[in-house]
Amino acid sequence: MTDALDGVRDHYRATGLTQRLKTALAALGPDDQQLAPQQLGTLDQFHTRGLAATAELARLAGITAQMSVLDVGSGIGGPARVLAATHGCRVTGVDLSEPFVEAARYLTKRTGQSGQVSFQTGSALELPFEDATFDAALLQHVAMNIADRPRLYREIRRVLKQGGRFATYDVVLNSGEPHYPVPWARTPETSFLLTAAATGAAIEAAGFLRLAWQDDSEAAKAWITQLRASGPPPAPNLGVVMGPDFAQLAANLGRNLMEGRLGILTAVFEAAPIR
Ligand SMILES: C[S@@+](CC[C@H](N)C(=O)[O-])C[C@H]1O[C@@H](n2cnc3c(N)ncnc32)[C@H](O)[C@@H]1O
Repeated sequence: MTDALDGVRDHYRATGLTQRLKTALAALGPDDQQLAPQQLGTLDQFHTRGLAATAELARLAGITAQMSVLDVGSGIGGPARVLAATHGCRVTGVDLSEPFVEAARYLTKRTGQSGQVSFQTGSALELPFEDATFDAALLQHVAMNIADRPRLYREIRRVLKQGGRFATYDVVLNSGEPHYPVPWARTPETSFLLTAAATGAAIEAAGFLRLAWQDDSEAAKAWITQLRASGPPPAPNLGVVMGPDFAQLAANLGRNLMEGRLGILTAVFEAAPIR
């Protein structure tokens, strides 16, 4: 397990990321100028369909201002900042990658949200929180990096209050072998995809009741078609975060979706009583 986590950490090692972000964001204004979270959307929403997907997941999860929300595998913090700005909730992000957490804190300072949104380094398999801490948890494009799904979903159940919401938005295996490299794994060694059915079964086995279930593969394909038609993405984009080969990683995800090898699942669950 440690080997797999080390491989994933290495994939998201992002050396010098905060400095690269500072340089890239100079195009949006001086360092002391406050940015709106949505302005960073092309760069900090590290999943298919970007800002629109985060907004939809939050709506399906029923996020409200009173909630304390956990974003598991929070990346450089885009979803957490948008959730807090849109719904007024407090958000805590946790991520395996130290450089991502440092970058998330820097960007959150730039949007003036450090009092409402915070980040910690940690593993989703050993969440650094007490039992029953959060009202809702989000997991966006993270599960495909995690081999031990039963433990992942049990950990999320453990830190949720009974009746709390768990919203997941992830890539799932359909049929055939995916083409690599992809945005979450340059080789199959750090990719742990499950089918949608197996994902749902693992989540339910960890103590969740299904509330919403959506196959978003067609929406993802429409998004890919639109991206292809609109040419190179505007700067700054996720290339700043993942490096110059990001265009190739993203192209392979598009190809895998278009060929039906991979799909996209959105699902929301309620935390059942712990037996
Ligand atoms: C594709 S990015 C998605 C980031 C973010 N959820 C978003 O949608 O913008 C996947 C993230 O999952 C994190 N991750 C992968 N495995 C993890 C684990 N075991 N524990 C915590 N974070 C993990 C990675 O470090 C990375 O930031």
